[in-house]
Amino acid sequence: MKFLGKSSRQRTVFLPLCWLLLKFLQPGRCHLYNNRYAGDKVIRLLPKTEGQVHALKKMYHTLQVDLWQPSSISYVSEGAVVDVHILQNASQALLAFLHEANIQYTILIKDLQKTLEKDSSLRTQRNRRSLSAYNYEAYHSLEEIQDWMHQLNKTYTGIIHMFSIGRSYEGRSLFILKLGRRSRAYKGAVWIDCGIHAREWIGPAFCQWFVKEALLTYRSDPAMKKMLNHLYFYVMPVFNVDGYHFSWTHDRFWRKTRSRNSGFHCRGVDANRNWKVKWCVEGASMHPCDDTYCGPFPESEPEVKAVANFLRKHRKHIRAYLSFHAYAQMLLYPYSYKYATIPNFSCVESAAHKAVKALRSVYGVQYRYGPASHTLYVSSGSSMDWAYKNGIPYSFAFELRDTGYFGFLLPEMLIKPTCTETMLAVKNITMHLLKKCP
Ligand SMILES: *[C@@H]1O[C@H](CO)[C@@H](O)[C@H](O)[C@H]1NC(C)=O
Ligand SMILES: *[C@@H]1O[C@H](CO)[C@@H](O)[C@H](O)[C@H]1NC(C)=O
Ligand SMILES: *[C@@H]1O[C@H](CO)[C@@H](O)[C@H](O)[C@H]1NC(C)=O
Ligand SMILES: [Zn+2]
Repeated sequence: MKFLGKSSRQRTVFLPLCWLLLKFLQPGRCHLYNNRYAGDKVIRLLPKTEGQVHALKKMYHTLQVDLWQPSSISYVSEGAVVDVHILQNASQALLAFLHEANIQYTILIKDLQKTLEKDSSLRTQRNRRSLSAYNYEAYHSLEEIQDWMHQLNKTYTGIIHMFSIGRSYEGRSLFILKLGRRSRAYKGAVWIDCGIHAREWIGPAFCQWFVKEALLTYRSDPAMKKMLNHLYFYVMPVFNVDGYHFSWTHDRFWRKTRSRNSGFHCRGVDANRNWKVKWCVEGASMHPCDDTYCGPFPESEPEVKAVANFLRKHRKHIRAYLSFHAYAQMLLYPYSYKYATIPNFSCVESAAHKAVKALRSVYGVQYRYGPASHTLYVSSGSSMDWAYKNGIPYSFAFELRDTGYFGFLLPEMLIKPTCTETMLAVKNITMHLLKKCP
């Protein structure tokens, strides 16, 4: 278990350097991400009436707000909780509007830049203290995650195999870790991806955690042993590699891929609206500048196309598709694109019910679960629906912690509890697969 304990770390230079400048040398001089969030706010809106919802939707189209939760304005209804990121120069207008429309709200983050810098300085201090051990309770840059994968591939040759399924828009390799002992007997498989949306950093942290736990416990834990004996796990720690990289270097709240959109200055496509399943019909945007832009055509994004090709090729033996997002604390299954339940509802429903119960047993954290359309909002072109439609019977999307207090800036302190409880849910779903339903 050498590598799980120790590794050489080469942290991106950018953050520590900035941290040093912030701390000692020139306070106020160095700002992360070019100070782009100075004075921005994150506000939670609580529309209570139909009229307020209507007003909110109108406001959305005039003011520049970025929805943090949920990410589709069309499905906001009375009683919804809507978190928005508002730029500094528009925040007065938004507050005035809220008073005018009599919409209840709370300010979650007063100054996003300050919050971000505090969050990041804590992170850097923490990492500096643990240079000698691979720290699974830290967020890692893309480069670090890929180094880690290469190391595992070298160290655990019998049980891990790392390969690439293609390249991203910007030419980065799309790496997968395949876990499980090779065996002559037929083995099913589980697909796990994290980081479809760049800013949801807890996702890749969970994928790393999952791999670590599998390697550390498959000898001692009968459940893990059974999982790895009977199944392969394909783990893609960072799906949207370009976007994730960009969220470290330029824009912490970047969500989409980084492809160019011809004729527009806005970049990127929502990699979770780009799948060929009722593509761009509802809960997705046709406009390249929107965060839920579905792209010019299905699978236009090389990352989506590569994964779709892989899943198509292996769908006969892939039994489950698990995709990790944040935040909302939900466990979702199809359909996402319509208000309907899937044919074999009861098997999937009972798997979700038990998984959520197992998750709650650790720290009492409550997850809602159900068809995505009922539980979250309608969205077409999602990977989860696509996987289900393409013959993978158990298809789930996790929305991990929290419910908005930290939102995308979930502190590193919460990586361990979040991953520990999520691990139980994933194991529970997997054990469910290995039994005959129900
Ligand atoms: C993983 O290791 C194997 C050898 O054990 C090697 O053939 C393969 O190229 C490695 N994968 C990557 C992506 O480097
Ligand atoms: C799954 O979770 C349920 C509910 O908490 C529990 O009763 C069951 O034992 C768990 N199964 C496994 C295999 O962990
Ligand atoms: C759903 O039901 C069909 C027919 O009853 C069966 O072939 C299929 O395997 C079932 N899928 C799941 C997820 O159980
Ligand atoms: Zn997401």
